[in-house]
Amino acid sequence: MTSKNGTEPIYKFYINGEWRESSSGEKIVVNSPYLNKPIGSVQAITQTEADEAIRFAHKSQQEWKRVSLQERAKYLYKWADELILMQEEIAEIMMKEVGKGYKDAIKEVARTADLIRYTIEEALHMTNDSLTGDSFPGGAKSKLAIVNRVPLGVVLAISPFNYPVNLAAAKIAPALISGNAVIFKPATQGAISGTKMIEALAKTGLPAGLINLITGRGSVIGDYLVEHNGINMISFTGGTKTGLRLAKKASMVPLVLELGGKDPAIIRSDANLEEAMKHIISGAFSYSGQRCTAIKRVLVMDDIADAFVSRLKTEIEKLSVGSPEQDSVIVPLIDEDSADFVQGLIDDAVDQGATIITGNKREHNLIYPTLVDHVTEDMKLAWEEPFGPVLPIIRISSDDEAIHIANESEFGLQASIFTNDINKAFSIANHLETGSVQINGRTERGPDHFPFLGVKGSGMGVQGVRKSIESMTREKVTVVNLY
Ligand code: NAP
Ligand code: G3P
Repeated sequence: MTSKNGTEPIYKFYINGEWRESSSGEKIVVNSPYLNKPIGSVQAITQTEADEAIRFAHKSQQEWKRVSLQERAKYLYKWADELILMQEEIAEIMMKEVGKGYKDAIKEVARTADLIRYTIEEALHMTNDSLTGDSFPGGAKSKLAIVNRVPLGVVLAISPFNYPVNLAAAKIAPALISGNAVIFKPATQGAISGTKMIEALAKTGLPAGLINLITGRGSVIGDYLVEHNGINMISFTGGTKTGLRLAKKASMVPLVLELGGKDPAIIRSDANLEEAMKHIISGAFSYSGQRCTAIKRVLVMDDIADAFVSRLKTEIEKLSVGSPEQDSVIVPLIDEDSADFVQGLIDDAVDQGATIITGNKREHNLIYPTLVDHVTEDMKLAWEEPFGPVLPIIRISSDDEAIHIANESEFGLQASIFTNDINKAFSIANHLETGSVQINGRTERGPDHFPFLGVKGSGMGVQGVRKSIESMTREKVTVVNLY
């Protein structure tokens, strides 16, 4: 990192164990979404530098794949320790860079250290398979198949802005522990947090070339990385539009895509409304709703809707609004464009007859928590992902109607069902086209060892510690013919 007198720091990219400035000479200024000033700049690397990174990654991975699990584990344990040592510094930067409350940022770093440690343990205890030929008709007993898992090679890890450390490490750790090398492309708004995370990894003495930090706008360097024939696997987390573009451009490499969501919360008449309300408030509005798994629509039974909306209004109006430095729940959105998009959804709903129960107030990229009632299926807010603090209420009259509306969405990440009837809960859950269903809980990815996946427009493939390790390795079958 370098900085000139009085200007913000200039961060370098990291290739083959070296921190470097790009020969492009171009820097991308990163502005704080709430300080509304630059907090630093990152390199806009060239395609030649990307080629170099991928070349070094392949070279180092040839050695790394032969290193024992125990040896690999030592570096990653140290990484977790270094992250905790840097926890306050990283949290401070994350807060300024993506507007996440300081306490949430501290928690994200701690959660990441836990994830890394769990990933190591999972890898150390994964077992392989073996089969004898005679378990198949006519198969020879003398044939023994030993099935191991081997690394794919060089993993391209692309992460989003909203969890700039946790969602990046959730890719990097399983990749490294399973013997891969990594090309890491953080979200530009989040790249400084990502850089600090890589600083922690560099301190472990990890052999050069195994982790390479590539900074630059995805719209400029993204396609080149995705189409590069030196990439053996892509693990992407981000918006559905970006994911779709990436999937069309990626050649024959395994993909894991964790994309957008429009998670519904279905509130049945027999639900514990106070409990449901707590989960919906935190599920919809924490970090201003900038979570892929945020609750982004409430499907509530007609007969309890008025009472439920009234309770939601009361609690929403208690939410803290302001700066992440005060750990406000509602903080400025990541940028003005995002706020414009959210405001557009609210305006469209109002224009078509929806009712603002509370909110619909904006100060630059800060949008006050907004509850919109009587949202109907012809409004954009019923279907689009706001990634902001706006919650539409859709009134329903039956479980079947809830399932129909929930499944009509292009997304299929998670869903919540609130009810006291566990049989009904499972019956509805079995009909929902989502990766996961929460019964009497808010939609959320954690804990991080649970399988986490989206279907339809919410992604393909599965994350979660063990699943991530599996996605970055492949089977290798060795058949022994015993005589
Ligand atoms: P985004 O705009 O799609 O960006 C995600 C990443 O893709 C960034 O690193 C971005 O780089 C990069 N990128 C952009 N264009 C690219 C291209 N052509 N090729 C390759 N990479 C490219 O998403 P975001 O705004 O950071 O995050 C918000 C979205 O991510 C929401 O839709 C949210 O639901 C989703 N998300 C999903 C999950 C999940 O686990 N399902 C978790 C978190 C977020 P730049 O930043 O330089 O553009
Ligand atoms: O959008 C990021 C997603 O991974 C949310 O994580 O645990 O807050 O649901 P979580």
